[in-house]
Amino acid sequence: MMTILITGASGGVGLDLMKQLGAEGHAVRAMSRRPLIVDLPDTVENVIGDPTDAGSLKGALEGVDAVFVNSVFLNDIETAGKVADVVGRSPVERAVLLSSSCIFTRHELVFANFLRDVMDEFRSIFPNLVSVHPGQFASNALRWRDMVKEGVVRHPFGDVGVPIIDPYDIAAVVKLCLIEDRFQGERIEITGSDCISPREMVKGISDMLGSEIRYVEISAAQARENLSRGMSPDRLDYFLAMSGSPKPEEQRVLPTVENLTGERPRSFTTWLAANIDSFR
Ligand SMILES: NC(=O)c1ccc[n+]([C@@H]2O[C@H](COP(=O)([O-])OP(=O)(O)OC[C@H]3O[C@@H](n4cnc5c(N)ncnc54)[C@H](OP(=O)(O)O)[C@@H]3O)[C@@H](O)[C@H]2O)c1
Repeated sequence: MMTILITGASGGVGLDLMKQLGAEGHAVRAMSRRPLIVDLPDTVENVIGDPTDAGSLKGALEGVDAVFVNSVFLNDIETAGKVADVVGRSPVERAVLLSSSCIFTRHELVFANFLRDVMDEFRSIFPNLVSVHPGQFASNALRWRDMVKEGVVRHPFGDVGVPIIDPYDIAAVVKLCLIEDRFQGERIEITGSDCISPREMVKGISDMLGSEIRYVEISAAQARENLSRGMSPDRLDYFLAMSGSPKPEEQRVLPTVENLTGERPRSFTTWLAANIDSFR
């Protein structure tokens, strides 16, 4: 059995990864800035600390065989280099970076180029890095929580479908890359199993709750205004491009998850059943 450090452990991918590795008996260090408020499997230890702090990360990596790095906190190239440097000097044999599929498809977007630079910086220091590149997450639907409770979801691009992926499936692929040697140095692109549109997702939520949730189409300009307080302009451009005008390659369903894990990626309905209480 291995000892594995998970950064960003309180997030969607981190939580699923912790459960899947813990269930297989691996010793997991789950790193978060605040204590985790979920039941932890017996083999999981919650390490409190900020992964962007070199001292905290160095301590958390002692005696660790493999590390999962969530790019969510690599906010600039300097931080990516610093984190990679600490990982490179540690005893870990494997490191897996959660990135995005946009680095392959969106050379015109500032945010996609930034994520590519982060990955390249990390790989220049830790050449065996495995980077995992999902498309959009099913858990993005959690952004609608408050609107669902009010009975109306206002969102753009109602009929544009993309193969969203359940964080469970991302975690399943990351887990393999952490515990097996065969992926060293690879870039692995993954998607969910079906294209689904925001309107269909809201209908699914409405059906599962058994109450009527209306979908109201808003313009991209309106969405930009609504989201501008919580997202940087570069991330907003990325979000509007990926969900409003996906390229054909961004609507392709890839066989990667099933090829690697032996299981078909979970549907939005399966993700929803596990998370429906968040919408009540
Ligand atoms: N959403 C999508 O559709 C999508 C698509 C493709 C790729 N991605 C990539 O997936 C990643 C998000 O994964 P996720 O949903 O599992 O993560 P998440 O839930 O957004 O965040 C995971 C955890 O990381 C910690 N964290 C967040 N910001 C931090 C910071 N500035 N410094 C230190 N810790 C921080 C937080 O934990 P604590 O506060 O407990 O420390 C948070 O709970 C992003 O890098 C994104 O680029 C997302």
